[in-house]
Amino acid sequence: MWRRIGRSIGNLFKMGAKPSKSKSPVSCSFPFLEDKSTIEVMKETYAFVILRGLPGSGKSTVARQIAEKYPSISVVASADHWEITPLPKESETDSSRYDKLDQQIKECLGDKTIVVVDDTHHNRERLDYLFDLAKEKDYIVFIFDVRPANSDLASLVKCSHWNYTVQQLKLMEPELQKKVLPYYFGWFLWRQDGEKMRKYAMDFLDELSKNEKFGEEFFKYVKSDSKENFKLEEYFQKKPSVLHCTTKFCNYGAVPNSESYAGSKTVDDSLSKCFVLKVSALFITPRTLGARVELDEDQQLLWPKDEEAVGSGDQVKLPHSSRSHITLACAPGVPAVQTGLDLLNILKAENAEAQPNLQVMLEQGQCCCLGEGRWIMNLPNSIKVKTLFSGFYAKKKSTAE
Ligand code: A2P
Repeated sequence: MWRRIGRSIGNLFKMGAKPSKSKSPVSCSFPFLEDKSTIEVMKETYAFVILRGLPGSGKSTVARQIAEKYPSISVVASADHWEITPLPKESETDSSRYDKLDQQIKECLGDKTIVVVDDTHHNRERLDYLFDLAKEKDYIVFIFDVRPANSDLASLVKCSHWNYTVQQLKLMEPELQKKVLPYYFGWFLWRQDGEKMRKYAMDFLDELSKNEKFGEEFFKYVKSDSKENFKLEEYFQKKPSVLHCTTKFCNYGAVPNSESYAGSKTVDDSLSKCFVLKVSALFITPRTLGARVELDEDQQLLWPKDEEAVGSGDQVKLPHSSRSHITLACAPGVPAVQTGLDLLNILKAENAEAQPNLQVMLEQGQCCCLGEGRWIMNLPNSIKVKTLFSGFYAKKKSTAE
């Protein structure tokens, strides 16, 4: 997506960037530069910001604005600074031309809260490499495509200091016009609230493990040699490193409608924006431990339309976005996608049955059994968690994760 802009470029020298030949008007409406609640959350989020665009498009201006908005906690790693040309020179045949830039990025990850990478980013392999770096340190990736108000190539040639021709810019343009489709889009929990949810989940497991009624029912459905040695906390050992609530699973574009979802104005306007999600229940099954999320009207706009078919074909039809949830943990060998399926299954059972099979009272609320080891605790007071909307982009290395 390309952003329209209407602000003047300041001094780029401070950033280590070379000056553009002539300054073009640029503007941006990125939530992390303008939205107060987003800025507050962003200040305490490990954020890896990738600025993308043709030479002369105004990326360095946006980078500078980020550095000014988040002084001391952000760093701009600029390809220009290391004199890395957007198109490799004939003598440069491998990726070692990025060594100095990558060294800088690696040193900053974990040290700086916000790491901004300013480069054209028209090469998918290069992006994949950066996604891996960000994933290793649990940074949330935000990709921004930058384009000035006047984006014809002849004008960009004048704005860029690389002395490129229109023909050279045309070599980069097609890739930059393509959306970078993530593995999935979703709301990523603010670190503090992620920790809060994990603690809540651990307390939930702790209480359940002390409850005999629960233990007797649940144990029937888990594979374990000994009831005495069975520990819930150990059983649910597979936990996501960053908690999130998936909206659209794209599988890098392999899933139908991924491109139209990624290209929608709602998604475009929401990237990097702060949303407060309402967690209304915790649930547990022999496969997964999850938190139910109830979306408000604005949040529902980000829920994929094709999920409306949820429950079709079944007797019980569930409302749009019923599947929205946070995976807290999975049993060994169970993929995270199971959590949403378990939630739907629980909600259908809840709707179908007048009375739950069994109930136990916990400190956090009443926990109801829906049979087959499925339990849900609707919270008397919902939990509010702050999140940032973005995509998860790193490529999956193996399916055995
Ligand atoms: P969620 O936890 O919200 O269900 P994995 O590592 O197992 O591939 O999954 C990574 C994330 O992608 C999971 O957290 C899961 O989200 C989501 N996901 C994986 N497969 C699917 C799918 N088929 N449909 C929807 N979401 C999926």
